[in-house]
Amino acid sequence: METQRSDVMEDSKTKEEGVAADAELAKTIMDRRFYPSLLGPEPWEGYIFSDLKIRIKESTDLYGAVLWPSAMVLCHFLETNRDEYNLKEKNVIELGAGTGLVTIVSSLLGAKVTSTDLPDVLGNLQFNVMSNTKDRCKYTPVVTDLIWGQDVEQRFPRATHCFDYILAADVVYSHPYLEELMDTFDHLCQKNTQILWAMRFRLDPENSFVDRFRERFHLEELYNLPSLSIKLYRAWRKDKRTKDQGEGEAAA
Ligand SMILES: C[S@@+](CC[C@H](N)C(=O)[O-])C[C@H]1O[C@@H](n2cnc3c(N)ncnc32)[C@H](O)[C@@H]1O
Repeated sequence: METQRSDVMEDSKTKEEGVAADAELAKTIMDRRFYPSLLGPEPWEGYIFSDLKIRIKESTDLYGAVLWPSAMVLCHFLETNRDEYNLKEKNVIELGAGTGLVTIVSSLLGAKVTSTDLPDVLGNLQFNVMSNTKDRCKYTPVVTDLIWGQDVEQRFPRATHCFDYILAADVVYSHPYLEELMDTFDHLCQKNTQILWAMRFRLDPENSFVDRFRERFHLEELYNLPSLSIKLYRAWRKDKRTKDQGEGEAAA
C-alpha cells in the first residue's frame, strides 16, 4: 500500500516536471518573437535567431502567408543543436516554406537551401528570404515552386538531387493532399537523408498521417510541447528503396 502511494506521488512529480519543462521551452521559443515599436505602412513581425534580427512580412489571405509556431520550434531546435545537426555546406530542402523563417535560419546556419511552396506563395516567400539573407549567408537560398506529388521526379530527379535534410513545419493539417505530401517525402528522402518535421496536432487525420508515416520511416521524437500541441520529429527511411523504385522493381 505504502509502495503504491509513493509510486503515485513519484508519477505526479514526474508529470509536474514535464509540464514545467514544456512551459519553459515553449516560452523560450515564443520569446524569440518581437514586434516593431512603431507601426509603419508595411506590417511585419520580428524574430531573433543566430543573434540576428529577422523581419517577416505576412499577408492575410493564404495559409502560407502566415508564420506558424511550428516554424519557430524547428528554428529553435536547429539553432540550439547546431553542433549535432550541423547545417554548414549541407543540401537542404524545405517543403511548404510559407513565409520563409525556416529557410532563412537554415541559410544563416550555413546550409544550401532550396525553399519550396505553392506558386501563389512564392512572391512573399522570395521577398522575406532575400531581404533577410542578403549579405548574411554564404549560399543564397533558391526559392521555387513544388506542389506536393506533382512532377516531383522531373523537378527533382533522384539521381541529381540528393538532400542531407528535408525540413517541414506544419505541413500536415486537414488539406486534401496528404497522400501527395507522403509521396513527396518518400521521393526526396534518400538513404542518408534526415527529415526534421515540426508537427502541430489539431485533428484526428493528423494522427493517422503520423501512423502511416511510421510505416515508411523511422520516427524519433525530439521535442514534445503539449502546451503548443507541437511535436518535433526526426525521421529517416526504413528501407533503401523509394516507393517508385519498389514499384519499378516489382514490375520488372
Ligand atoms: C500551415 S502553413 C505552414 C507554413 C510554414 N511552414 C510555417 O510553419 O510557418 C502550410 C504550408 O504548406 C503549403 N502547402 C499547402 N498545400 C500544399 C501543396 N499541395 N503543395 C505544396 N505546398 C503546399 C502552404 O502554401 C503553406 O505554406
